Amino acid sequence: DWTMKAFREEAIERIRAQVGTGRVICGLSGGVDSAVAAVLIHEAIGDQLTCVFVDHGLLRAAEAEQVVTLFRDHYNIPLVHVQAQDLFIGALEGVSDPEVKRKTIGKLFIDVFDEEAKKIASEGKGSADFLAQGTLYPDVIESVSFTGGPSVTIKSHHNVGGLPERMKMKLVEPLRELFKDEVRVLGRELGLPDAFVGRHPFPGPGLAIRVPGEITREKLDILRKADAIYLGEIRNAGLYDQIWQAFAVLLPVKTVGVMGDARTYDHVCALRAVTSIDGMTADFYPFDMGFLGRVATRIINEVKGINRVTYDITSKPPGTIEWE
Ligand code: XMP
Repeated sequence: DWTMKAFREEAIERIRAQVGTGRVICGLSGGVDSAVAAVLIHEAIGDQLTCVFVDHGLLRAAEAEQVVTLFRDHYNIPLVHVQAQDLFIGALEGVSDPEVKRKTIGKLFIDVFDEEAKKIASEGKGSADFLAQGTLYPDVIESVSFTGGPSVTIKSHHNVGGLPERMKMKLVEPLRELFKDEVRVLGRELGLPDAFVGRHPFPGPGLAIRVPGEITREKLDILRKADAIYLGEIRNAGLYDQIWQAFAVLLPVKTVGVMGDARTYDHVCALRAVTSIDGMTADFYPFDMGFLGRVATRIINEVKGINRVTYDITSKPPGTIEWE
């Protein structure tokens, strides 16, 4: 794509001009935007960039390893992998309100990130002057309308807002002019693997908002297994790229079932899949019943703790994509 090639070159020049010999820290979320921003900035300024990946223990199966392997081993980008699982899961104990979950996770995330940034500075690599973010054009617009108009915050999407002021850092946001589909084109242009670039969006608070009510390690483990089966089947059926987001939700409801001769009393798992252009509106994905039946059977047979599966046929609006 020639326009993206030109964009890439210009963006690299702009990053070099902005940063000079300064140091940049970039938080990786595991998602496409921060990954593309990091690779682009690394191409511009090499090891003046350090990435920080805060592992909050709310990721999907194998996700943390994928990020570390890609960045540290494949791209050779200096990467700090912070194992903060206990901290986050401990802080979420007893929390069941979705907005309190988001705020708890958002605040901790900033604390952990801040601490890592200070460590990087004190290790003599020179204090970090810049904070890189994978902010996209729709994020820019949305935050403008939030401060300007009488719009209602439906969900406080957590990102690293507030961090730069506290840390006295300047922002590097090389994707500010791009839409999601353009970021994907740029990611491919930069050689990121297709499977990574085409990934569905994943919320910052991760699986915490896919376990309605209070989370526990046990519930998260059950959810990870069901989610992995569901996404594996979607990939095998060749449907992954037609779907905006697909995921499992572990409901805080137990129902009665029967397995062999025994009565079971286990959780309900809801499956969600939607098509969308930008996440603002969405339609449920019309799987065929045979597909859903196969997924349900596999989840119930293979995941201890789930004995019933339902499919969510709510579009947005009136539903939201996530359950919390
Ligand atoms: P909703 O559920 O509001 O989601 O229809 C729209 C899109 O936003 C994602 N989402 C979030 N992303 N932090 C994020 O970074 C959040 O707290 C959050 N809540 C929802 C959701 O996955 C979908 O892509």
